[in-house]
Amino acid sequence: MVSSVLTRRAPHVFNDATGSREEQFAPFMRTQSAAPALRSLDVVRVDSMIPLSRPNILESDIERACEVLRTGQLVQGQHVRLLEEHVAQYVGVAEAKAVSSGTAALHLALLALDIGPGDEVIVPAFSFVATANVVELVGATPVFVDIDAATFNIDPEQIEAAISPQTRAIMPVHQFGLACDIERVVGIATRHNVTVIEDAACAIGASSGGRMAGSFGTVACFSLHPRKVITSGEGGLVVSNDATLTASIDALRNHGIEELNGTKTFSRVGYNYRLTDFQGALALPQMTRLEAGLTYRAHLANVYAEHVVHPSVALPSVRAGKRHAWQTFHVLLDDDIERAHVIDHLRASGIQAGPGAQCIPEQHYYREKYALDVAVQFPNAHRAYHQGLALPMAETLTVEEVAYVASRLNEYG
Ligand SMILES: Cc1ncc(COP(=O)(O)O)c(C=O)c1O
Repeated sequence: MVSSVLTRRAPHVFNDATGSREEQFAPFMRTQSAAPALRSLDVVRVDSMIPLSRPNILESDIERACEVLRTGQLVQGQHVRLLEEHVAQYVGVAEAKAVSSGTAALHLALLALDIGPGDEVIVPAFSFVATANVVELVGATPVFVDIDAATFNIDPEQIEAAISPQTRAIMPVHQFGLACDIERVVGIATRHNVTVIEDAACAIGASSGGRMAGSFGTVACFSLHPRKVITSGEGGLVVSNDATLTASIDALRNHGIEELNGTKTFSRVGYNYRLTDFQGALALPQMTRLEAGLTYRAHLANVYAEHVVHPSVALPSVRAGKRHAWQTFHVLLDDDIERAHVIDHLRASGIQAGPGAQCIPEQHYYREKYALDVAVQFPNAHRAYHQGLALPMAETLTVEEVAYVASRLNEYG
């Protein structure tokens, strides 16, 4: 099934001149094409639509969470600690701190780095709005940079021009689970003596050059929202090798409490951003299935790659050396296609689809505050926001369902 993709002629030419469709897909196909058809046997469908996403929560996961509920020990405890240890080991960093959301994770990372008023943080113009909101929350200024149209990730070529004396950090996003050109981002940051905060909200399990997303920056943040590859309902994680930073995050997530001179005290003003222990218990077993889940997602991505042949639909690109976590399967529609009509067409076939992320400077708050000329300054982010389409992707989908989505998409127009 997969080899036919590698030999078939490309029906669509990518607009970044980096090669044919076969070349773009070759890296993940070659390494992951033998994926076993993993299926969740005890996931219950609650509606008849093929959903954009649905978490792969097993009855045994629910039982683990219920066991914690029965103990009455509900706040952050041993299951959260176990989850943190597991994630830190998996990502290859010294420590992980679990928090109540991916947004809380990013917020705490900025606070722990003492980034605030007068500081600038470089962020991609195309992402979930939380990426820039957290910069606003600490009183700093987000400086937007356009994305690469083929990968939907920040364009490193344009980062340097956005750096100013006020720049404190670059916050690249591994968009939709694809590691960005993080090595180049780290190189630029090092040259300019600024910090890298990886927004890895969608990217647990993604890697670049064999190294895990989340292990490149000074600090990185994951989300455990239900649309992510593993979930605790709401939740997030901050990871870092910097012990001072993780100690700060530990205190800040828990009202500012920490040990000073052998005594616990409220040493600073903090938040309640803790993850509950039953949420930790829910997420923990999902970590043990993560690799199998990622392999299955890659298999589904290959099914899309094989079956989507609509001439006006561009598939996502994966460059050599990158492992995509396929949190989202995001395609780009040609400008002559009305995305809303495609969404309606798919919905009529029982398929949920929708926009993948936002062009942040185009959102009301940012438009009012910064009044940027979005279509001129961020043409790729603008286009991805208006013509991008997220298709169903989850471990709870079957190969047949994904092939059906592709066939219905092909019939559009
Ligand atoms: C790139 C990115 N950053 C941050 C977040 C925020 O994560 P959460 O929803 O867990 O707060 C998300 C969530 O979708 C995201 O996609």
